[in-house]
Amino acid sequence: MSMQQSKNNQAQIYIGMMSGTSLDGVDGVMVRFPDIDDGSDTGMQILATAYIPFDAELRQRAMRLQQASDDELHHEAMLANELVQAYAACVKKLQAAAEGQAVHAIGVHGQTIRHRPELGYTRQTNNPSLLAELTGIDVIADFRSRDVAAGGQGAPLVPAFHRAVFGRAGVSNVVANIGGISNISVLAADGSTRGFDTGPGNVLMDAWVQQHHGKTYDVNGNWAAQGTVIPALLSRLMGEAYLHMPPPKSTGRDLFHMAWLQARLQGFETASAVDVQATLCEFTAQVLANDIARYAADAAHVYVCGGGAFNRLLMQRLQALLAAQSCDAAVSSTAALGVAPEQVEALAFAWLAQRFCLRLPGNLAEVTGARGGRILGALYPA
Ligand SMILES: Nc1ncnc2c1ncn2[C@@H]1O[C@H](COP(=O)(O)OP(=O)(O)OP(=O)(O)O)[C@@H](O)[C@H]1O
Ligand SMILES: [Mg+2]
Repeated sequence: MSMQQSKNNQAQIYIGMMSGTSLDGVDGVMVRFPDIDDGSDTGMQILATAYIPFDAELRQRAMRLQQASDDELHHEAMLANELVQAYAACVKKLQAAAEGQAVHAIGVHGQTIRHRPELGYTRQTNNPSLLAELTGIDVIADFRSRDVAAGGQGAPLVPAFHRAVFGRAGVSNVVANIGGISNISVLAADGSTRGFDTGPGNVLMDAWVQQHHGKTYDVNGNWAAQGTVIPALLSRLMGEAYLHMPPPKSTGRDLFHMAWLQARLQGFETASAVDVQATLCEFTAQVLANDIARYAADAAHVYVCGGGAFNRLLMQRLQALLAAQSCDAAVSSTAALGVAPEQVEALAFAWLAQRFCLRLPGNLAEVTGARGGRILGALYPA
């Protein structure tokens, strides 16, 4: 083993940052991972967490880049530079909270503006060179492209991390990440792992509450809880072809956006806004419950992460809909496993950065559909 490798295998500190499809902001975490070779796995240790919210203007600009527009290359590059200011601020906050820790590398997802694996590409806007310049730390970025190049969906990438840290031998569990889009990781008792994007998470509920109340999200699902589900609208939403496709599959704002919803609201013009919100919440819960019942009927637990874990109505409905399908799984947030729900995805990108540094595959081919395990990401040296 070379000196470089033996040094890399020691317990090391990483920063992971995720800014997802909700476009709410950047979640960051500083974590010490144990030496993966010495067998004495003492578990990971979270040293600091930080959150940098995006302002409305940045959110709008990122959203506009999801569709064709004038001079996109310029707008994309300018957005990337501004995003990196938020990433750098997040790193600064983490370093202030965990003073004096030497960070081995930063894993940063970037902001997805197009996700078209069926056409052979996925784009996370980012300027990792600028982040390396501003922080003086090695940056690993662009984790999805190599999986797509190998014929995979490039998503979801988190199931490998969920398996590594939340998997328990002999127990079947599900980790459900409810971000803008929802994805599940099925951690089967036999050690196998499945995972895919189930469909919308918060993205439709967020868009609807934004349009009607000017708020970025429906706090705790309180507004939806005042409405009544519209069965005919719910069944129309459930008719979306993506929901009935077999995995591997991944999706994003490319499919689930306001225009998608507006098209399905035709004929429901007289429905009250609050009832539509209740229906969107039920829709999100039902899509998740159906897929869990279908692919993980024997699960003992469903651990929810992502901002959706804070939506009380959504969590209640998920539990009730699972029970209605004779699935005994107990629904709770990942806090029950010792990791706050908003930190899981950022941790996953710290973990993926470590995988890159150790030159180990970061994907699970059985999840993404890639031709095999691949080392994910690219290095931008400090
Ligand atoms: N108290 C709350 N009540 C209801 N919803 C909440 C609450 N807190 C957060 N959320 C929802 O969670 C969203 C943010 O979740 P999160 O950061 O996990 O999503 P994301 O950025 O799309 O992440 P990813 O793509 O990594 O899954 C918000 O937009 C909002 O819809
Ligand atoms: Mg977020």
